[in-house]
Amino acid sequence: MTGTSLPNAKRLLLGLTGGVAAYKAAELARLLIRSGIDVQVVMTASASRFVGTATLQALTGKPVFTDLWDTSITNSMAHIDLSRDMDAILVAPASADFIAKLANGLADDLLSTLCLARDCPLLIVPAMNRQMWENPATQRNLITLGRDGVTILGPASGVQACGETGMGRMLEAHDLAEAIHAFFQPKALRGKRLLITAGPTYEAIDAVRGITNSSSGKMGYAVVRAALEAGAEVTLISGPVCLDVPATARLVNVVSARDMLAAVKSEISRADIFVSVAAVADYRPVRTSKQKTKKTGGSIVLEFIPNPDILAYVANLPNPPFCVGFAAETENLERNAEAKRRKKKLSLLAANLAQDAIGSDESALTLFDNEGKSHLPNAPKIEQARRLIKHIASLYEKQNPAIPQC
Ligand code: C5P
Repeated sequence: MTGTSLPNAKRLLLGLTGGVAAYKAAELARLLIRSGIDVQVVMTASASRFVGTATLQALTGKPVFTDLWDTSITNSMAHIDLSRDMDAILVAPASADFIAKLANGLADDLLSTLCLARDCPLLIVPAMNRQMWENPATQRNLITLGRDGVTILGPASGVQACGETGMGRMLEAHDLAEAIHAFFQPKALRGKRLLITAGPTYEAIDAVRGITNSSSGKMGYAVVRAALEAGAEVTLISGPVCLDVPATARLVNVVSARDMLAAVKSEISRADIFVSVAAVADYRPVRTSKQKTKKTGGSIVLEFIPNPDILAYVANLPNPPFCVGFAAETENLERNAEAKRRKKKLSLLAANLAQDAIGSDESALTLFDNEGKSHLPNAPKIEQARRLIKHIASLYEKQNPAIPQC
């Protein structure tokens, strides 16, 4: 679980319905609690055939409710009381039968009644046999739930407990814990369009050789995810990396700095905010051979010329977007970073020590802007990216105050 902090402690009602995947919900409860979310479990009678209430009770440290007629709830209003003060209800696994009940507003047990009587968002995680998933009735019910504002997470495709292969597998606990964290993030960039560059560029010398910068792309991809979580529309221009791109980001793959500049030029007019995390190679070879250059045994001399500075190009446009740069320095972090920010005319520059950050899953960051500097102590890159996005949103808001509606 990469998320570690939420603005305020969130309360989640985790509902389990009958399915083999109920065992994954036990791990999910553990991950959510570990990341600071307060979890209250409610199970249907069939869910408790697959996983014991004692397991969920031990993991959450709270009684697990199963019964609509539970007299331990003071006013016998379990169907309403349990969902009050919740920030969301998550049903995982959500069986085909439970989805059908939700779509039709049925309420014949504690969990379905709580869902109908809720005043908080509802998220469901379908888990079922592939033919049940493909059945037009299930698909119809899911469309109805989508129209009703219910968030549907998954399912995934793969080998199922019944031995068949196809759509219907419940998402893994780790992915769900991240999705819940993302769901709870403040939507500070809703409606904003972000253009983000990430990863290294690769400058070919010949058909098989080239020069590049040491960059895993992890920070840039974390910024993409944090921006999506904050409600932004994101286009990612990425150099060659081995990372998964979030499904909701638009991806443009590039190789060289000149490719990256061309992609940026064609996208920039639509961007409100440009975040340049890419480790762009400062130089490229003057000559590139289409063939593999043969070894001669002797030494060789290569001539390099400077690449265009993509961020400086964007910041110098007549109407530039809000520009954010990154700087990895090996020494004199503050002096070098602030000098870079002024030279490139940036609203914000995030700096870190190259030796600490490159390839790592964690990093400390120092942010420099017109108001001064702020230090973000060492944390997982996704957490740093969330803090950075929050900072960007607040500076952007100050520079572009919303016009009051009358
Ligand atoms: O390499 P340097 O430290 O100057 O990078 C600072 C910022 O400028 C980074 O955000 C990087 O993405 C950007 N940059 C660029 N084009 C270059 C070099 C750097 O956009 N050719």
